Amino acid sequence: MALPPLGSVFWGARPVTTLVNRLQVRESTSAKHLTTPGPTDDELAEVMRAAVAVPEHGGIRPWRFLVVREAAQRRLSDVFVEDLLADSPDASETEIAKRRDGPLRSPLLIVVAVSPREHPKVPEVEQVVAGGLSAFVLQSCFHDMGYGAVWVTGNPAYSPRVKAALGLAPTDHIVGFVHVGTRGPDAPPTPRKARPDPTAFLAEWTGPTETVES
Ligand SMILES: Cc1cc2nc3c(=O)[nH]c(=O)nc-3n(C[C@H](O)[C@H](O)[C@H](O)COP(=O)(O)O)c2cc1C
Repeated sequence: MALPPLGSVFWGARPVTTLVNRLQVRESTSAKHLTTPGPTDDELAEVMRAAVAVPEHGGIRPWRFLVVREAAQRRLSDVFVEDLLADSPDASETEIAKRRDGPLRSPLLIVVAVSPREHPKVPEVEQVVAGGLSAFVLQSCFHDMGYGAVWVTGNPAYSPRVKAALGLAPTDHIVGFVHVGTRGPDAPPTPRKARPDPTAFLAEWTGPTETVES
């Protein structure tokens, strides 16, 4: 798939020409709007080089990426349903269908996991953050290539049974399931979302808050 050249995407009248602009206008595509074709193996390989270039403390490289496609998506779908029924034997047909549909909704599913390691200077939270960064880079790179993508979790991400089926340890973390595909004809045009005003979250810190002596 040809990459949209920088400068060919517009946000209002403003051309999106830099990484900053790209990130300002990035949007997820709901998995229900993702269709074939998925990325090629070459595109996946290219994106993976970016996913492992994220900031990461201690050279631990705690991330794991599991590519799940086609028949494997159907197997994972069965795992999701078995997991639901193990917890909720009386789950309704609607709940079962929703759970079954989870892994099937895109031509490419990437499970992003973190296998944390004991490290004297790098607490587990930092390792999970690094995994989250790699999931974001994956999603953003596919977006940049013109694909749609969305990062989801849900109960299966926290299930020891699902982790075991994926070959992960109970102490590993599934930081997300990243769905990727071609944006279908009914996908809403992007960019369209109003983003929050960053100033609402931004303050300039100039020193410790004065404490009043009692
Ligand atoms: C760790 C994580 C887990 C998420 N899990 C879900 C999820 O299970 N279902 C969902 O609809 N969105 C989930 N989201 C949010 C979507 O990925 C997406 O960001 C959200 O729909 C807003 O769309 P936007 O990215 O275009 O702003 C998750 C996001 C993160 C970072």
